Amino acid sequence: MVRKIGVLTSGGDAPGMNAAIRSVTRIALNNGVEVVGVHDGYRGLLEGNFEPLTRHDVSDILDRGGTKLGSARLPEFREEEIQNACVKNMQREGIDALVVIGGDGSYRGALALTKKGINCIGLPGTIDNDIPGTDFTIGFDTALHTCVENVDKLRDTSSSHHRCSIVEVMGNHCGDLALYTAISCGAEMVITPETGYDELEVLEQLRYLGAAVQKNHAIVIISEKICDVDALAKKVSLQTNFSGRATVLGHIQRGGSPTPTDRILASRMGEKAVDLLMEGIGGQCVGIIDNVISAMPIQEALERPRQSRKHLYRLFDRLV
Ligand code: F6P
Repeated sequence: MVRKIGVLTSGGDAPGMNAAIRSVTRIALNNGVEVVGVHDGYRGLLEGNFEPLTRHDVSDILDRGGTKLGSARLPEFREEEIQNACVKNMQREGIDALVVIGGDGSYRGALALTKKGINCIGLPGTIDNDIPGTDFTIGFDTALHTCVENVDKLRDTSSSHHRCSIVEVMGNHCGDLALYTAISCGAEMVITPETGYDELEVLEQLRYLGAAVQKNHAIVIISEKICDVDALAKKVSLQTNFSGRATVLGHIQRGGSPTPTDRILASRMGEKAVDLLMEGIGGQCVGIIDNVISAMPIQEALERPRQSRKHLYRLFDRLV
């Protein structure tokens, strides 16, 4: 029987992580299970940085971005000695199960701890929407809203000045944030790891839009880690009818009050995590698939290909 559940947030923070912490805490406490917050992700497990959580401790956080518990990346967690030290700390604290809110790296940690006898459940918390085993991650919807709000503003000034705005959005190696933003904002072009990148083709297309189609402005949404957007903007100014400007949205995409969709998603996922742990189940990750909250073994999720977005890329092409 589970008596004390730990909860931690790991990797890049995401809006809605607090809603997930609140959900795990309230639902566990309402079932007579104690809850311990672990500060700064796996680092807190290693350093024994624990804090018992009451229902009052998770008041007034539902609407806050970031994570109350703090987050960190700890690549050393791959080492077995570090994992053993964490298990010891948890045993000393009486933590017999753990909810890990984070990305796929965090899932691997959760799987390793489950194999060492501490049941763990992973919740997908990242703005990148790049976690297998779920259609959407906690934080993606809020980040998308931030991107859309900012690109809409850029469109105003771009059309006043006959400009091409090249907007770099996050996503790590996943194009979802760029694709969903591009569709939502009626962008002229989207470049992601899935579309590939050919600079000559991009410039050719912009020349066509500026000269043949006589577009007043052009918005290009590009995923991070693809090219130097400042250099591309300079080439656009030199080689097309548009003057080019680059905007890197950066870490503002990670902040802000979570949207209702993210708050509800996080609350539903937190509920599922506690239910699984109370049934004595570990090594699983929670997802939302076709709007149904579900769970699958972490190993299986990590091996699965991500759901194809081909239909959305096709839609984008048909809308341009
Ligand atoms: O994983 C979330 C994310 O924001 C990615 O989109 C981005 O590549 C990365 O984290 C940035 O990491 P950091 O905050 O460590 O610079």
